[in-house]
Amino acid sequence: MAIRFVLTIAIVTLASSLAYASDPSPLQDFCVAVDDAKASVFVNGKICKDPKMVTADDFFFSGLNKSGNTSNPLGSRVTAVNVNQLPGLNTLGISLVRIDYAPYGLNPPHTHPRATEILVVVEGTLYVGFVTSNPANPNIKNKLFTKTLYPRDVFVFPEGLIHFQFNTGKTKAVAFVGLSSQNPGVITIANAVFGSNPPIPSDVLTKAFQVDKNVVKYLQGQFWSDNN
Ligand SMILES: *[C@@H]1O[C@H](CO)[C@@H](O)[C@H](O)[C@H]1NC(C)=O
Ligand SMILES: *[C@@H]1O[C@H](CO)[C@@H](O)[C@H](O)[C@H]1NC(C)=O
Repeated sequence: MAIRFVLTIAIVTLASSLAYASDPSPLQDFCVAVDDAKASVFVNGKICKDPKMVTADDFFFSGLNKSGNTSNPLGSRVTAVNVNQLPGLNTLGISLVRIDYAPYGLNPPHTHPRATEILVVVEGTLYVGFVTSNPANPNIKNKLFTKTLYPRDVFVFPEGLIHFQFNTGKTKAVAFVGLSSQNPGVITIANAVFGSNPPIPSDVLTKAFQVDKNVVKYLQGQFWSDNN
């Protein structure tokens, strides 16, 4: 009896912690975000527009028919449709992006702190991959999973893990991506580590990467282009 009770508590706790691992569920039909660029209060998410003032355009976005400008050192461009572009997404726990890749263009290693990502290739060939975290089972510690994708192939990148996509074809590529957050966030690894403002002290980076100070200086001196 007591064991069953403890087990029930454990399962309920686990289930509720799983639910809180993603964006919280909405408590009303919708909560269209108001443009809060000048807000004097800050809340977790965005505050709701008066439902009487909501129109169909609050749930609408157009422009994903246009290819992104890939003229940058990475040869890729992410065009996001999250709560910042589409206010009707507020509290709904979902968003999407279009990604354009020039021939041999790269969407460099990055993570989304708040979302799992599911990608479908629309055009071209993509070599994609993600790396597992490090405290896991030693057999799967920092394990790289990769796949070559062709049009209509689908791949999922689990929440928070470092991942990338590389166009291995001689032609451009296009993918669309669904993300399990209204505001997934993106941390581009190289930019965050070597391009932070102010810079991470070189003593920290020389020890972390086990390289000479000049190597760190060289990397910190690069222009870390952002494709977002
Ligand atoms: C994209 O769609 C809009 C209408 O929603 C249209 O005006 C525009 O010409 C289209 N652009 C391209 C590149 O197809
Ligand atoms: C694409 O971006 C490059 C570099 O920022 C810029 O020079 C070029 O004018 C852009 N092309 C278009 C079509 O916007």
